[in-house]
Amino acid sequence: MTRLTGKTALITGAARGIGEAFARAYVAEGARVAIADIDIARARETAAAIGEGCIAVEMDVSRQAGIDTAVAETVAQLGRIDILVNNAALFTAAPLVEITRADYDRVFSINVAGVLFTMQAVAKHMIDAGVKGRIINMASQAGRRGESLVGVYCASKAAVISITQSAGLNLIRHGINVNAIAPGVVDGEHWDGVDAFFAKYEGKAPGQKKREVGESVPFGRMGTADDLTGMAVFLASDDAEYIVAQTYNVDGGQWMS
Ligand SMILES: NC(=O)c1ccc[n+]([C@@H]2O[C@H](COP(=O)([O-])OP(=O)(O)OC[C@H]3O[C@@H](n4cnc5c(N)ncnc54)[C@H](O)[C@@H]3O)[C@@H](O)[C@H]2O)c1
Repeated sequence: MTRLTGKTALITGAARGIGEAFARAYVAEGARVAIADIDIARARETAAAIGEGCIAVEMDVSRQAGIDTAVAETVAQLGRIDILVNNAALFTAAPLVEITRADYDRVFSINVAGVLFTMQAVAKHMIDAGVKGRIINMASQAGRRGESLVGVYCASKAAVISITQSAGLNLIRHGINVNAIAPGVVDGEHWDGVDAFFAKYEGKAPGQKKREVGESVPFGRMGTADDLTGMAVFLASDDAEYIVAQTYNVDGGQWMS
């Protein structure tokens, strides 16, 4: 499998979960990958576990200096960036009357500003270097409609879908394709945190919400990070050259659009 041979990728939030699975899949397809994460210790462990072709880069996508430094370090170490995956994000939940401004600011600075300004920094590099690049943003089914307890996170993911459309339309003139993936419910450490929020606000036993959402997926189970890698590789590959500003649902049949 060599659909990404010779390519380099920067994946934010890749120390664990979906980003880690994407890094493994990209390396398996011949790419070299920068695992960029605020948790640099875990990023180093993940890069070492994946092995040759991977480097770890410290990155806080909520800070402009964090973005600029990580992009510069990746270019210095890998030579250039052909593929960016904006994957880092934070989940939060609360009834509307309990949403705090601090929580809103934290989530939007990572999930929205982090995506926009990382995209901007990498697009500048791609344009300057003449790279016909690929940018993939991680949206969510949560961005397709609101949810009672998930106002802030849902709004942040709706913003990712919108930014993907605008950036996709703006950057294709430079040969840079911007698209997004909207997963449904994906098992992993992220969902353990989500389950804890629902246990708190819906009085569910630990693990109950996770079981319920898995059973409600038309496919018959929660997704895994590996269920998403096919789309992530495809969108990064030459086969996706004519795909612009789209958001693809990879969710076992949860949402249709
Ligand atoms: N897991 C799901 O059910 C699900 C569903 C839909 C969409 N998504 C989206 O997929 C993406 C990956 O999800 P996941 O389940 O792997 O999440 P995760 O919580 O397991 O991993 C997120 C990673 O981002 C890193 N991170 C957090 N803040 C950061 C920052 N400021 N700068 C850099 N890195 C930071 C974390 O350290 C972590 O390694 C996210 O965008 C998420 O919103 C997940």
